[in-house]
Amino acid sequence: MCIVESFGAGSEKKRPKIQDFTRSHFDCLSRLRPGSWEANVARRVFVALGLLAFFSVGPSRAADNVVHLSVDASKPGSKINRNIFGQFAENLGHGLYEGIWIGPDSSIPNTRGIRNDVVAALRELKVPNVRWPGGCFADQYHWRKGVGPRDKRPATVNSAWGDVIDTNAFGTDEFMDFIEQIGSTPYVSVNVGSGTTQEAAEWLEYMTAAEPTALAKERAANGHPAPYNVGFLGLGNESWDCGGAMTADYYVSLMKVYSRFVLNMNPAQRTKYQMLKIAVGPGTPDTAWTEAVMQAWKKHTWAWDINGVSLHWYTVPNGWPPSTNSENFGLDDYVKALKSTLFMDEFLRKQEVVMDKYDPEKKVTLSVDEWGAWHAPLPGSNPAFLVQQNSVRDAILASLNLNIFARHADRVRMANIAQMVNVLQAMILTDKEKMILTPTYYVFKMYVPFQDATFIPVAFDAGNYTHGSVTLPSVDAIAAKGVDGKLLLEITNLDAENPVAMEADLAGIKATSAKAETLTGAAVDSVNKFDSPDTVTPKSTAVKVENGKLSLTVAPRSVTVISIEP
Ligand code: AHR
Repeated sequence: MCIVESFGAGSEKKRPKIQDFTRSHFDCLSRLRPGSWEANVARRVFVALGLLAFFSVGPSRAADNVVHLSVDASKPGSKINRNIFGQFAENLGHGLYEGIWIGPDSSIPNTRGIRNDVVAALRELKVPNVRWPGGCFADQYHWRKGVGPRDKRPATVNSAWGDVIDTNAFGTDEFMDFIEQIGSTPYVSVNVGSGTTQEAAEWLEYMTAAEPTALAKERAANGHPAPYNVGFLGLGNESWDCGGAMTADYYVSLMKVYSRFVLNMNPAQRTKYQMLKIAVGPGTPDTAWTEAVMQAWKKHTWAWDINGVSLHWYTVPNGWPPSTNSENFGLDDYVKALKSTLFMDEFLRKQEVVMDKYDPEKKVTLSVDEWGAWHAPLPGSNPAFLVQQNSVRDAILASLNLNIFARHADRVRMANIAQMVNVLQAMILTDKEKMILTPTYYVFKMYVPFQDATFIPVAFDAGNYTHGSVTLPSVDAIAAKGVDGKLLLEITNLDAENPVAMEADLAGIKATSAKAETLTGAAVDSVNKFDSPDTVTPKSTAVKVENGKLSLTVAPRSVTVISIEP
């Protein structure tokens, strides 16, 4: 039982505070099988302890409405893998064409056809990995059509997204060039739906072979003698739907064959680090698909293996088809979207229970390789191009998801927001030569210090923010120790109307000074536009450090990152 474990751990040293006890009991509780007698008894104990904690001293919401946080830097948790800040660039709408690729003859400044402004902006985000070419597009992509001299490449139809003509000008070598320009790692999804194992195996040979094979020579002739480093390989996409409407069992058979024969031949990668293979995972909270994949994984042999299972979950506040406005909306839509996005936590927990059953050592990553807000297409845009604006609401939604991933860091070691440029919850929007950075871009920029940081538990009473019939936690927070030794604290104020005064007790670190940056806007639907690109940008915020306590007031509807010098 959890309660015994917790007392045992604490009693030898110093008696734990009731809040510490409650927290560790909660961690323990979340590991028990739901519905078991242990879980039922432990749940009752947890509720009783929670009430006790509420009435005792410690992190709480005081009568003065100050939120008290308590951070103990001496209790590090898991690493927040930088790959959770990954991106997704599908061949969809203006995500690649116009957003990234404009061709070498364009009057827009570019390097070998790739926009310089977009590259410079993305470099700031230290994007750890980029998933390409899809999405649904991946299962209809035939890589051979996208290599060699561009004027000889065949035109094809992008039947996944609007039946538009695809010139195939942006193919493998262009993608790899883009990856090198932004300093990232490729996450390539192979075609399991309409391709063959041989086609995918040859693609990997083209990309990664160092020996003078015919395909390596072809790559060299196309301008890249050195093999590419493919960091991640997606074995299909949404195979239960657009990837071929397969049953889980049928997919699992294909997954094994692809894993067996689609090989990375780059000798440097074989010795230094592995290419991680990510299997298709669920897109609904149902666990049957994950069960089938993990059950197979448990019996994997020398011949095949997978290193991750994907999970796709979009915030679609009114359900499908997406109907929420991405600009000019009010508080009703704001709270509905945040409520809906917080479901991510429960979704992950459900899948993790299944994964833990087969893989208690957490060898297999849960890769949330599509997530983000999916709103109605902007009026006048091609509905198949998934064009939407990006507001303060989306920034808050992004920080809530990143915080959830950080809390699940022991299992969620990879994630890819959908998508990078001009599609869905994008970092960047372009219009011919113009470019704007979205509020979501700035959240990713503010979170850069969290890449590979070590999670540190933070206790606080979030309180409630109620609008209409929707009640949300009024604040969210995570803490971590950055790779440079600084203590990082992130505070999201979901309350759209009221600022929140915060006081944090910092244990396990001698804090000397702190800096804070806040992202907010005049309203929840504030956006950056081509003629007003700086409406929503981060600004520095006053923060005080005194006698091991940190205090600041966070603005309504805001995301704040505080960096504390030891
Ligand atoms: O991101 C847009 C689409 O959403 C992807 O192509 C697909 O995988 C998902 O359904």
